Amino acid sequence: MKKFDAVDIIRAKRDGQKLSREEIDWTIDAYTKGAIGDEQMAALAMAIFLNGMDREEISQWTTAMINSGDRMDFSALGKPTADKHSTGGVGDKMTLPLAPLVAVYGVAVPQLSGRGLGHTGGTLDKLEAIPGWRADLSNDEIMAQLRDCGAVICAAGAGLAPADKKLYALRDVTATVDSIPLIASSIMSKKIAEGTDSLVLDVKVGSGAFMKDIDQARELASTMVALGLDAGVKTSALLTDMSTPLGLKVGNGLEVEESVEVLAGGGPADVVELTVTLAREMLTAAGKDDDPSDALNDGRAMDVWRQMIEEQGGDPDAPMPNAKHTHDVLAEADGILTELDALSVGVASWRLGAGRAVKSEPVQAAAGIELYAKPGDRVAKGQKLMTLHTDDEARIERALQSLDGGIEIGGDYETRESVVLERVE
Ligand code: URA
Repeated sequence: MKKFDAVDIIRAKRDGQKLSREEIDWTIDAYTKGAIGDEQMAALAMAIFLNGMDREEISQWTTAMINSGDRMDFSALGKPTADKHSTGGVGDKMTLPLAPLVAVYGVAVPQLSGRGLGHTGGTLDKLEAIPGWRADLSNDEIMAQLRDCGAVICAAGAGLAPADKKLYALRDVTATVDSIPLIASSIMSKKIAEGTDSLVLDVKVGSGAFMKDIDQARELASTMVALGLDAGVKTSALLTDMSTPLGLKVGNGLEVEESVEVLAGGGPADVVELTVTLAREMLTAAGKDDDPSDALNDGRAMDVWRQMIEEQGGDPDAPMPNAKHTHDVLAEADGILTELDALSVGVASWRLGAGRAVKSEPVQAAAGIELYAKPGDRVAKGQKLMTLHTDDEARIERALQSLDGGIEIGGDYETRESVVLERVE
């Protein structure tokens, strides 16, 4: 006999009631097995979106999603493991330099990542711009690579929190993604199931992020930190700025290029700052007090990067592909660039072919945007502000439309001190 009725559970949440542990466990289990259909789960997700869940419900929802699949175990490695998760932004290529950098210091970094959907890019899409590189690894291959080179960036296997995989796809098409309880439980179920000892969360704030204002971002961060700590994962979070793109390159191959610049000791100041700050957080959580900038400057992080790419079949020396078409965007006036909106640039890059609108769509490795000025820079009329790259010329017009209103040149600009806005633990 059925323990609960999905309609009663939907009605309870619709009417603002708290769901019990048993109801949540049953719901997630029944949904994973297909006994609750997408239409009922969509209604429940909308009720949660509208009425929320308290901390106890979020914690139980997360546990139930973890229990829907396998848990990984890295204890046989005999070294600490540290992971980083970003809530997603424009030009956010941090995982690429960060994983090899932290691995230099004897910390294993298992970065189980995803593909992009919508305007935020996916880590796997970026690395797939490298000829030969393979995202899908077995658990044995992941362990072997963590033993050999200490860092692995690969696709999360189908067995990790399968309830979340189903639910995330459903939320994506039912306007229920941007709910703090649903985002926190989605991210943390995967991270806890992954079995890392410690986790640093990079919670993005601003136009290019899920969380548009700092209060929402703080609530999401503290909800996720509490879920992690309750599950025995040493968790902290940084709130970081996503009002403008990170770095000067947005798009898959372009972001690989910029990551390699950082690993070679160069790269834009904001990307270097965030790489080093996140690396320091990860190292501290793993009990190390090294200064990670050293390994960017002396080539050790680059050595691990090359090994990590080669072990997954990639050629670290292959040049990134060039797009078939480019289009320059010029400054329309003299002055200071006061706005370069992250969402506008992210959507433009997506429309150029760097991202996908539906899961099955391929992405272009060469599509994206190269920036030549950032907010606060003085620009002259007619100067190149950015170059759009795409293999499909017809996409340029739509990309330009999304940049409309996203670029402003004026007189006054309040300089941003740091990309890191706050720390939550
Ligand atoms: N990333 C996730 O994995 N889940 C969400 O709900 C949002 C971002």
